[in-house]
Amino acid sequence: MQVILRQIGDCVIRRCEASDLISIMEINMKTLPEHYSDYFYESLLAELPEAFLVAEIGGRVIGYIMCKTEYGFSNFKKLGFVKKGHVVSVAILDEHRRKGIGRTLVEESLKGVQIKKCDELYLEVRCSNNEAVRLYEKMGFIIKQRLKSYYRDGEDAYLMTIEFTY
Ligand SMILES: CC(C)(COP(=O)(O)OP(=O)(O)OC[C@H]1O[C@@H](n2cnc3c(N)ncnc32)[C@H](O)[C@@H]1OP(=O)(O)O)[C@@H](O)C(=O)NCCC(=O)NCCS
Repeated sequence: MQVILRQIGDCVIRRCEASDLISIMEINMKTLPEHYSDYFYESLLAELPEAFLVAEIGGRVIGYIMCKTEYGFSNFKKLGFVKKGHVVSVAILDEHRRKGIGRTLVEESLKGVQIKKCDELYLEVRCSNNEAVRLYEKMGFIIKQRLKSYYRDGEDAYLMTIEFTY
């Protein structure tokens, strides 16, 4: 059964279904240099469907966000061991950008990881990716750390994170 979360104009934000994965992999190939195995997509969908979301226009998937959960040291509380959501990947096809779709996907995935009682949500983003950094800052994420040579091509990442209060 399709779980529709939001509508922005003609764009529907809904939970991902297994049949969406091929389209998601195609969008990932077109938009980002980091790619994953089929199994990895399937395992994220099985693990955290609440925060694996797609944006669809006229029956075509044009964007996605996928997350996972982890346990580890808090980015906020000294020596705190917490449950963290991790944004693994988010992308919108070029021709559908700057319409608020990326922001809506992030907003809805924040709710998804909160359903799973995560204390924080974090992600890595290329330091040169101004659009994405701006988007996350607008949503309340803060830059916590610069991760040296995080990407295969040697570029640094910002670790950005947001803390939840329940
Ligand atoms: C990052 C990305 C997901 C943003 O998606 P989007 O649907 O275009 O974003 P939105 O329209 O919701 O924009 C939200 C905010 O992000 C910022 N932003 C997005 N694109 C921007 C751009 N080209 N320049 C400056 N700021 C930008 C703005 O603050 C914007 O708010 P505003 O429109 O009110 O000014 C999209 O650019 C993308 O898919 N990029 C390629 C994949 C990628 O880099 N993913 C992130 C990896 S960590």
